[in-house]
Amino acid sequence: MSRALRLLVVNGPNLNMLGTREPAIYGTRTLSHIETEVREAFPEVTTDWVQSNHEGELVDAVQRAASSGYDGIIMNAAAFTHTSVALVDALAAIDLPVVEVHISNIHAREDFRERTLTGRQAVGVITGLGTWGYHLAIRWFLLSRADETH
Ligand code: DQA
Repeated sequence: MSRALRLLVVNGPNLNMLGTREPAIYGTRTLSHIETEVREAFPEVTTDWVQSNHEGELVDAVQRAASSGYDGIIMNAAAFTHTSVALVDALAAIDLPVVEVHISNIHAREDFRERTLTGRQAVGVITGLGTWGYHLAIRWFLLSRADETH
């Protein structure tokens, strides 16, 4: 049997404010509530959760993931999605699959959210499906791993 899937879930600026931040857009779940729900839904998967408001800390987290035995990254870089060449470069520098998640539909909002820089380095982008996006990203990792063994 293969060992448990290990994923790093990287969350960017202002996602520590989930729960009270623009609930009409992001819902009322806090980040730790989302984390608990994911852990309960996927007891067979190890997820480590990181949140930072600082671009460099997110770059550090991505770099560390590469040398820490993770099987992949789930990334919601929040506003840095649209601006951070440093995060794009960090994701390009490592050899791990990345699934990008956005709680809101970035294509249905302001123009400046339309473009995702980090999405270029992702296998795929899940956007607008609420906090279930994190669950769906994990489901993809499980399915693609099962596919490899077929
Ligand atoms: C977000 C969308 C981004 O445009 C925004 O800056 C965020 C959250 C989302 O999850 O919908 O902070 O990544």
